[in-house]
Amino acid sequence: MYPGSFDPITNGHLDIIRRGCTLFDHITIGVLNNEQKSPLFTVAERIEMIQAVVAPLAETTRTTIEVDSFEGLLVDFAKRKRANCIVRGLRAVSDYEYELQMAQMNRHMQPDIETVFLMSADTYSFVSSRLVKEICFLGRSVQPFVPPIVEARLQAKFGRQPRS
Ligand code: PNS
Repeated sequence: MYPGSFDPITNGHLDIIRRGCTLFDHITIGVLNNEQKSPLFTVAERIEMIQAVVAPLAETTRTTIEVDSFEGLLVDFAKRKRANCIVRGLRAVSDYEYELQMAQMNRHMQPDIETVFLMSADTYSFVSSRLVKEICFLGRSVQPFVPPIVEARLQAKFGRQPRS
């Protein structure tokens, strides 16, 4: 289970999914339905973008990838999906404290599901969905940080024509 907000998916997320494919037979990407937090993209839009960018992986790996959304507790969703492992990406030390707290809490609630941390490539260690949205909103290209389809969707959200 690779859970997150994915608002939107970035090259950093994609890097973690690629790494996950070398370790797992099946990955469920769990998109948090957090409409109350006013995400930029709807769950349907986020799922569509993820499906588009993970599709090429199906041709290069034997791992099957499923994308689904969830509400409520992650461990309950993971249990429903029969996942035995939660994958989270670690970019920098600053991620660690929050991730440790979540992993310990999830372990407390569901001891049979292990959390595994994968380190993103250092190229993506500073990439986050939040910064990508801000940079795009303020008019700079986010092309190095997100797949092309995501950049196009961001441009469209902010009412700009895609670059040729
Ligand atoms: O991409 P994000 O926003 O860092 O992902 C956070 C996510 C979705 C993994 C986390 O917020 C989550 O698991 N939310 C579901 C609610 C839940 O289970 N909360 C208790 C966590 S200990």
